[in-house]
Amino acid sequence: MAPNRIVLAYSGGLDTSVAIPWLQEHYDAEVVTLTIDLGMVDLEEIRQRAEAIGAHRALTIDGREDLVRDFLLPALRAGAIYEEQYPLATALGRPLIAQYLVETARAEGAFAIAHGCTGKGNDQVRIDVGVAALAPELKVIAPMREWGMSREEEIEYAAARSLPIRLGRSAYSIDENLWGRSIETGDLEDPWHQPPEDAYAWTRSIADSPDEPVFLELAFEKGVPVALDGEQMPGVDLIRHLNEVAGQHGVGRIDHVENRLVGIKSREVYEAPAAALLHTSHKALEALTLSREQLRLKSRIAQEYADLVYNGQWFTRHREDMDAYIRSTQEHVDGTIRLRLHKGNCTVVGRKSPYALYDLKLATYDRGDTFDHSSAEGFIRIFGLPVRTQNQIQRRETRSD
Ligand code: ARG
Repeated sequence: MAPNRIVLAYSGGLDTSVAIPWLQEHYDAEVVTLTIDLGMVDLEEIRQRAEAIGAHRALTIDGREDLVRDFLLPALRAGAIYEEQYPLATALGRPLIAQYLVETARAEGAFAIAHGCTGKGNDQVRIDVGVAALAPELKVIAPMREWGMSREEEIEYAAARSLPIRLGRSAYSIDENLWGRSIETGDLEDPWHQPPEDAYAWTRSIADSPDEPVFLELAFEKGVPVALDGEQMPGVDLIRHLNEVAGQHGVGRIDHVENRLVGIKSREVYEAPAAALLHTSHKALEALTLSREQLRLKSRIAQEYADLVYNGQWFTRHREDMDAYIRSTQEHVDGTIRLRLHKGNCTVVGRKSPYALYDLKLATYDRGDTFDHSSAEGFIRIFGLPVRTQNQIQRRETRSD
């Protein structure tokens, strides 16, 4: 046990770079940094920076497979989209970060974990609650909540200690993983302002996207996407590839005024090309393979699931209970969805499944119709019975006013 050791979630940015000496000085502690790749991160470069700044040890984890298998695919199968807009990229990454921090703190014998979340956002809640669920004995330190330094003061603090920091060129606060890119602050804080083009990095504008559409065929097994255009593709590769293709066609831009858990409304801009495309496809396949009643209950669960993820309640029995229900609903969600990507739109143009509940012989208006038209009359008489009865007994007089 090293009682003066802290594991810091280290992104390589200004805030967490300044946190290394700050934690050393305030807690007289050794700081072990942990950098996690949940998307497109140069782990080695960031690791070296942590060492150069004075980390006792700089550790890295490639978390992409865990993220996809344990968080993104369950959220896709659940249909979890917060406030009908946000596919929850950042929110789904946080519990995994909490999990890795806890595992590392235990392996390193640390007494605390630290992270760079501010005191205004949802992310502090997700990490703190995640750590509390998994390791209540660990202390959580959020330097940014405590130190009250502005960006300029952080830069001075780093300069005074000659820290080799790298100042990002971006005018925004950005968080990204395979499921999407979250963009905040700067010009975006005025909800009347159209997001400037430089806020976007993964998606082309409609004007710059190709004039010709592209068509894709996405195959699912039990609600999990498994193949693209007939070729099996593991989750991480598939999502990366779909981000690329859908992003080129301008698919997946989201501009939303969102209700944060801490009570603030905030203007949020997201890019989530693969997530948008996968949710659209998955939903279309469910429309083909689930009953009306299953679809209705499942859409209520989807909202509940999205709120739970957003609110940092991942490590709960409630989530596991919902997962059990969702898993059961996905038993027959097998099939292929054909999509057309063009100028910001992702449109379903075809669907097929060995378990489709759609039956052409019942649906057709052409020859081969097997629907029994004569029984419709009796059905309508019974179905309309309560409507008829109530109107006979209680009908309001039609009023002219
Ligand atoms: N509003 C989003 C959420 O709560 C995104 C947060 C993004 N964080 C960031 N550091 N830019 O999930």
